[in-house]
Amino acid sequence: MSLSPVLTEHWDAERSWTLATYESTGGYAALRTALTMEPAAVVTTVKDSGLRGRGGAGFPTGMKWGFLPAPDGGPRYLVVNADESEPGTCKDIPLMMATPQQLIEGVVITAYAIGCHHAFIYLRGEVLHVYRRLLNAVAEARAAGYVGTDILGSGYDLEITVHAGAGAYICGEETALLDSLEGRRGQPRLKPPFPAVAGLYARPTVVNNVESIASVPSIVSGGSDWFRSMGTERSTGYGLFSLSGHVVRPGQYEAPLGITLRELLEMAGGIREGHELKFWTPGGSSTPIFTAEHLDVPLDYESVGAAGSMLGTRALQIFDDSTCVVRAVARWADFYAHESCGKCTPCREGTYWLKQVLHRIEHGHGTTADLGTLLSVCASILGRAFCALGDGATSTITSSIQLFREEYEAHIHGGACPFDPAASALFETASSTRTLTGTSAGTVGA
Ligand SMILES: Cc1cc2nc3c(=O)[nH]c(=O)nc-3n(C[C@H](O)[C@H](O)[C@H](O)COP(=O)(O)O)c2cc1C
Ligand code: SF4
Repeated sequence: MSLSPVLTEHWDAERSWTLATYESTGGYAALRTALTMEPAAVVTTVKDSGLRGRGGAGFPTGMKWGFLPAPDGGPRYLVVNADESEPGTCKDIPLMMATPQQLIEGVVITAYAIGCHHAFIYLRGEVLHVYRRLLNAVAEARAAGYVGTDILGSGYDLEITVHAGAGAYICGEETALLDSLEGRRGQPRLKPPFPAVAGLYARPTVVNNVESIASVPSIVSGGSDWFRSMGTERSTGYGLFSLSGHVVRPGQYEAPLGITLRELLEMAGGIREGHELKFWTPGGSSTPIFTAEHLDVPLDYESVGAAGSMLGTRALQIFDDSTCVVRAVARWADFYAHESCGKCTPCREGTYWLKQVLHRIEHGHGTTADLGTLLSVCASILGRAFCALGDGATSTITSSIQLFREEYEAHIHGGACPFDPAASALFETASSTRTLTGTSAGTVGA
């Protein structure tokens, strides 16, 4: 399988972020087409394309739009989720830096399709450079008549507000995002009601990921059959695969869903010289880890799920044999304990204890009973937490104990980290075949 650059096609163009460059590469042709269509026909095109949300959970995008109740004369909103905070996930920020007009064109088409006149882009606040770029891009689009009143003489009006959050992972969860956007502390809301029924300001709202919305112009231009011609039957189209870590050429690789890590690694120059692949995440830090045994798993929703993990955000974090798996998992646990919003007990207390126990194992102070404690705390969180952050916190812990139990035991019995050069403990790499069976996987997203 080879790459399929669509979103990334013009990232290398001279001043790719400007409206002039975007228009010179065919930008806004899709909006002109969409404005000649009935809004419902745009929704149908996206439904037929099979596009699934690129924010993690893979919910069908057109179907989500179709959940909005019939217009009642009041406002309805589109909110673009640009919070991108999950460790390893790094696709939306490059997209907004390279071709922000692609996102804005997608916003205008989507807003037109769902009958919305005010759209929001909720951006992670730390990325000030992206915020500035988006503000400039919206201003350029407005000056050219793509945003504002009577867009391209169609009679359709749309305002776009770019909002910078304060930088919290939980504000990527769609209902916490909506609370934050309304000016409250970002914490998840009880669902139902879902945002489609009562979202921003209790009005019907569509929340979609940056990459989902940026894919809309190409679907309108190319048609649903063209989009379906890529990917697999149930995981259609292309997506950004973000390779990071111990690879020769890390970066964004845009390819049809169903490509394998082996194929992506060939394009990325492989694992750094002198080392071998040890473990990797298929979809970010909230997804159970894989090993070299999983190099040929097609990276689509169904195949990754069948192999015991989740496609998530296609954040492929690659770790070679120089990495201590306990250390890596402990760092992720630090992140979840820090980012837990504290609303529910299983996650608030559980992530705290996972962090404590992992730290003492990492530094050689753990006991064999600690492994049981970790699994038991994970079981108390998974499926019992208020939102998917809690589930995600358990994924790499349960899967790593299943796949690398001997490495945890080496820390416990050796009294130190075997990867620490100063440690006297000897560590023998287990050569046993590793498979993920029955690993409980949390689902990030809704
Ligand atoms: C803790 C947490 C963080 C999330 N962060 C993001 C994020 O940064 N960006 C995103 O698009 N979705 C994120 N999601 C998923 C959203 O809740 C939601 O499913 C998504 O924005 C829907 O868009 P999509 O259907 O286009 O994928 C997160 C979910 C959880 C539980
Ligand atoms: S699972 Fe964690 S992040 Fe989600 S509501 Fe509970 S405490 Fe907050």
